[in-house]
Amino acid sequence: MELEYLKNRGYKEFYEDKLKYIEKAMEIIYEKIKCMGEKHLVLEDRNPIEHVKYRVKHPKSVKEKLERQKLEVSLENSLNEIQDVCGFRIVCTFISDVKYIIKKIEEIENITVVIKKDYINKPKKNGYRSYHIILSLPVEINGVIEKIYVELQIRTIAMDCWASLEHQLMYKKDISKRELFKEELKKCADEMATTDLNLETIMTFIESEGI
Ligand code: GTP
Ligand code: MG
Repeated sequence: MELEYLKNRGYKEFYEDKLKYIEKAMEIIYEKIKCMGEKHLVLEDRNPIEHVKYRVKHPKSVKEKLERQKLEVSLENSLNEIQDVCGFRIVCTFISDVKYIIKKIEEIENITVVIKKDYINKPKKNGYRSYHIILSLPVEINGVIEKIYVELQIRTIAMDCWASLEHQLMYKKDISKRELFKEELKKCADEMATTDLNLETIMTFIESEGI
């Protein structure tokens, strides 16, 4: 896991002594996710996880988010009010893999699932699909325990592909161009969701035939 960048760019100045708890929380969750994939690989001969991305939110983004929410910019608010300081994106191969990973996350000992948002069964109006979990976990360092929030986004390759493209198109263009793209993007999202279902069917068939 690559977290060297936490030494630079103002992380230490902003998160102060809480940075090591954040770092440890990232390592704990990363290890759990890696194990989930490897266990499935041993049992089913296939890793359900295509890749995992992660990041610790940059202080500048935390400040902006607190300001948007009309909250005081403080370390306490950053850790208690912003629940995506630690973020993971778990990209799975098939929809059933997404379900498997969600189940395994919920089974992790010592964590509390704070929020679940199912944008897969209930996509956003723009077509965005993904499953979001906010969890909190106690992190202990030298006998001192801190509660750290972690956001997990779990989605298929197709959902991730769409979300990346939509992010690029919608965040960089001006409003009039955005409107132009909206309907087409929604159509793409729905087509990709259909493709996900078709791929799932093919995979189930292949596995049942033992091909
Ligand atoms: P944030 O203030 O961004 O945390 O949003 P929220 O509190 O409403 O939570 P939500 O679970 O809806 O979104 C959290 C994250 O999911 C975002 O920061 C994005 O990374 C991702 N996300 C949510 N909606 C979209 C979307 O429409 N398009 C894309 N590309 N990403 C999205
Ligand atoms: Mg966010």
